[in-house]
Amino acid sequence: MEGASKWVLFLKACLIFSSFINSFGNFNVAAAKIKEERIERKLANDDQSGFISIDCGLPKNSTYIEKTTSINYISDATFIDTGVSKSLSPESRVTHQQQLWHLRSFPEGKRNCYRINITSGTKYLIRASFLYENYDGQNDFPEFELHLGANLWDTVKLENASLSVTPEIIHVPSLHYISICLVNIDSGTPFISAIELRTLKDTTYQTQSGSLSSLLRLDLGSSSNRAYRYNYDVYDRFWSPAAYNVDWTNISTSFTSDSLSQNDYQPPEVVMSTAATPLDTTASFDFSWNPDNASSQYYVYMHFAELQKLPANESRAFNISLNGKYWYGPLVPKYLSTSTIFSQSALSGGQYQFSLYMTKNSTLPPIINAIEIYIVKDLLQSETEQGDVDAITNIKATYKVSRNWQGDPCAPVTYLWDGVNCSYDGYEPPRITSLDLSSSGLTGEIAPHISKLTMLQYLDLSNNSLSGPMPDFLSKLQSLKVLKLEKNNLTGSVALELIEKSKNGLLTLSVDENPYLCSSTSCKNKKNNIVIPIVASVGGFFILLFTATAIFWILKKKKSYVSSNPQGASLESKQRQYTYSDVLKITNNFRRILGKGGFGTVYHGYIDDTQVAVKMLSPSSVQGYQQFQAEVKLLMRVHHRNLTSLVGYCNEETHMGLIYEYMELGNLDEHLSGEDSGAKLLSWEDRLRIAMDAAQGLEYLHNGSKPPIVHRDVKCTNILLNESLQAKLADFGLSKIFPTDGGTHVSTIVAGTPGYLDPEYYISNRLTEKSDVFSFGVVLLEIITRQPVITRNHDEKTHISNWVNFMLSKGDIKNIVDSRLHGDFDNNSAWKAVETAMACVSPNSTNRPTMNEVVMELKESLASELSRKNLNRGCKTKDSIELVSINEVTPLAR
Ligand SMILES: *[C@@H]1O[C@H](CO)[C@@H](O)[C@H](O)[C@H]1NC(C)=O
Ligand SMILES: *[C@@H]1O[C@H](CO)[C@@H](O)[C@H](O)[C@H]1NC(C)=O
Ligand SMILES: *[C@@H]1O[C@H](CO)[C@@H](O)[C@H](O)[C@H]1NC(C)=O
Ligand SMILES: *[C@@H]1O[C@H](CO)[C@@H](O)[C@H](O)[C@H]1NC(C)=O
Ligand SMILES: *[C@@H]1O[C@H](CO)[C@@H](O)[C@H](O)[C@H]1NC(C)=O
Ligand SMILES: *[C@@H]1O[C@H](CO)[C@@H](O)[C@H](O)[C@H]1NC(C)=O
Ligand SMILES: *[C@@H]1O[C@H](CO)[C@@H](O)[C@H](O)[C@H]1NC(C)=O
Ligand SMILES: *[C@@H]1O[C@H](CO)[C@@H](O)[C@H](O)[C@H]1NC(C)=O
Ligand SMILES: *[C@@H]1O[C@H](CO)[C@@H](O)[C@H](O)[C@H]1NC(C)=O
Repeated sequence: MEGASKWVLFLKACLIFSSFINSFGNFNVAAAKIKEERIERKLANDDQSGFISIDCGLPKNSTYIEKTTSINYISDATFIDTGVSKSLSPESRVTHQQQLWHLRSFPEGKRNCYRINITSGTKYLIRASFLYENYDGQNDFPEFELHLGANLWDTVKLENASLSVTPEIIHVPSLHYISICLVNIDSGTPFISAIELRTLKDTTYQTQSGSLSSLLRLDLGSSSNRAYRYNYDVYDRFWSPAAYNVDWTNISTSFTSDSLSQNDYQPPEVVMSTAATPLDTTASFDFSWNPDNASSQYYVYMHFAELQKLPANESRAFNISLNGKYWYGPLVPKYLSTSTIFSQSALSGGQYQFSLYMTKNSTLPPIINAIEIYIVKDLLQSETEQGDVDAITNIKATYKVSRNWQGDPCAPVTYLWDGVNCSYDGYEPPRITSLDLSSSGLTGEIAPHISKLTMLQYLDLSNNSLSGPMPDFLSKLQSLKVLKLEKNNLTGSVALELIEKSKNGLLTLSVDENPYLCSSTSCKNKKNNIVIPIVASVGGFFILLFTATAIFWILKKKKSYVSSNPQGASLESKQRQYTYSDVLKITNNFRRILGKGGFGTVYHGYIDDTQVAVKMLSPSSVQGYQQFQAEVKLLMRVHHRNLTSLVGYCNEETHMGLIYEYMELGNLDEHLSGEDSGAKLLSWEDRLRIAMDAAQGLEYLHNGSKPPIVHRDVKCTNILLNESLQAKLADFGLSKIFPTDGGTHVSTIVAGTPGYLDPEYYISNRLTEKSDVFSFGVVLLEIITRQPVITRNHDEKTHISNWVNFMLSKGDIKNIVDSRLHGDFDNNSAWKAVETAMACVSPNSTNRPTMNEVVMELKESLASELSRKNLNRGCKTKDSIELVSINEVTPLAR
């Protein structure tokens, strides 16, 4: 690159970010006009179904459609119960979009939170907007913190009254709601103008860990010099024009094409139809930035599309380097079709100098249409366990508690709710262990929701005006050590179990000064007609204990008799532990069998209207209830789009069951059999996608879940397909619950399946991640060839890998790939897949790749197949996305 004039688009991250905001605050009239024409064209096919658009401070129940964007905004009143509504003066509204005209300010309280229901596990772009415009007449810019759940998201620092600040984060919430909190740090009154949530495709903006906070999103070579959002952009991302640079020029196309915004990232057509290119046609196009924190990590997305129809004697091809090292290329942007280049792992290392430079035989300089840069935000503090949050939220509503009960009850510790205490265990979700609502003027009965605080150790409801009986659940709270109910107006009698616990020193119980409450054992007398022997007071302790226990048993028996009839146990889908009778209801008495597996039988069922698969485990194989419970809890926390999710479980005496999401299209094995079983023949692309899904699921078990999980039984029947042919691994982690019976015997059910089992297992007796890789290799070979895993010929058994090896010696890929495809696949793609599979089934585990490497190989194989299809179809394709994985700068940060 000597001689090439080197010019730098030097992006000082924070600076660009604010200029990005600048360009958004103000619209000029001409721009708005162009926009309106487009709105009409776009509205026909775009809807706002994944949008939640909240105008903070808007009067309750009001809604409107914003004129320039046609986005539907609603009032924030249902999402928060604190703060005061304010609005901007009419003069200062003029240059801003309507959602910024109102705001909610929080003169009181340290932390005020919005609670917004969402779909957990879905990827959201979450944006908060702040526009000051001197609404309070103080002319004093406030500074405050913005929290997402239990974590600091950003510090909001306003510096120009007429410029809005709009922090954005791409985040996958783990609970069914998010809380967005404004935290007063004694630098002025916090306020907020708007909150916007947009769902994104799962496949986009993937990170190895953490969420992505937007640093900048630039439209390069813009000829209008204005910013774009919905409904140019279906995901309502903000795109701002890059400031002009003397060293480059802009090119554009007047042709429109759907394929300009048709990869998964869907950058808007208007953004993709312009690009920047060096003026000096031999120069490289460089950009770089200086992080303000050397340990920050970044993800970069570059979008490319050729905008000129090149004559036959011209070509444009370039490589991309990072910090002087080859990063990607050669890249030949396709005419009017978007390719998105990004790295699969975070960039780190403190230096970020990208250079796009032309390859030897290229006649034209590089171009670039758009760039996005994100910084990784690790939101490490878990939010409180969902069951506890639901319970305490209900208690708050029942007793109309105000205090500082906002946002997450336990986290961060600094903003722990008054009267609540929690246990914190590393990255585990915090649990509520203590609740003190003494002297709070509570009336009515003791709230039943308290029973859902299952880890409660300390409960103080003393000195209130609570009435009614002491509920039974108080004696069921396993961890309860202190129960203070004195100075209320409770009636009835204290449960014998509580009295007993208190006598045994297991519980500190105080129930004094409840004039109508009977707190001695003898008052059970009247109510239950059980004759209690009068116990001699001297030396009668053991006798008393004995009788009390006996009575307790009698009562318990009686009671459970009663509780099984009334009001029928209604299913609560939130609650993950189900009783056996729930399971009977869910499966309609085990009416429909979906299949039988090593661990038991799988039945079809419904929870509410959602279909589920219920696996009932044969009791003989279960190790122990305790272990079952512990393992299930672990599995419940494992979430990935390529793992079947565990919805709930049943653990009642000998009835043990696991409830999974239902997978419409059954298992992969049935599909590979193809026409034989009536299923549609899977194309080569389908097969690669399924293989990649399964590989990604496995990769996550090995590297993403904590602790890592070895599947131990990867095989085609354990790969399930949903209605859109997305594959998910099933049965992971189960073999841990049912470990081998030890010793030298290989139990075929428990430790893997013949043909899929790691040959090294026979030597080491240990299954590792590399054993899963072996099994995956066998699966991949089946996907490619549709040969049986083991062929029996007379007395000889041939393993699928031997068969492939034999065919490979003949050298024709067409003989290896499932003949029913009739050669309809890309040869390079097929070779790559076969090589990958053969590497996986290496007898020696050290020669096998990691699942991470397998995923990358499969991606390349898929890319190769897709590019063949693209050639066949011209540039009109959905899948022109290019996937790159580069780890040159730093290896995976784990
Ligand atoms: C909002 O709507 C609800 C139900 O439609 C109604 O009961 C309530 O009075 C309305 N509130 C206001 C402030 O208009
Ligand atoms: C949010 O969901 C909960 C149940 O999960 C429901 O009780 C509540 O009303 C919902 N809130 C809003 C604002 O929709
Ligand atoms: C605030 O931003 C506006 C619009 O970009 C600009 O015209 C004005 O000079 C800025 N004010 C200050 C005090 O920087
Ligand atoms: C480049 O941008 C300018 C405005 O900044 C515009 O007038 C011109 O038409 C653009 N050129 C091309 C080729 O799009
Ligand atoms: C830099 O980032 C790391 C990790 O994100 C963080 O722990 C550290 O506090 C940051 N340093 C500064 C000065 O912000
Ligand atoms: C390609 O051909 C055109 C005219 O046919 C000519 O003007 C141009 O210089 C040629 N480009 C190259 C790189 O040879
Ligand atoms: C671009 O990358 C390709 C692939 O690595 C390499 O063969 C080629 O030499 C590179 N071109 C330049 C000019 O560095
Ligand atoms: C550049 O040259 C290589 C090798 O000669 C060729 O494979 C490639 O297609 C050429 N690229 C372009 C854009 O012409
Ligand atoms: C206490 O409860 C009793 C019996 O339910 C009732 O008669 C009495 O009025 C209550 N006293 C107060 C102060 O609420």
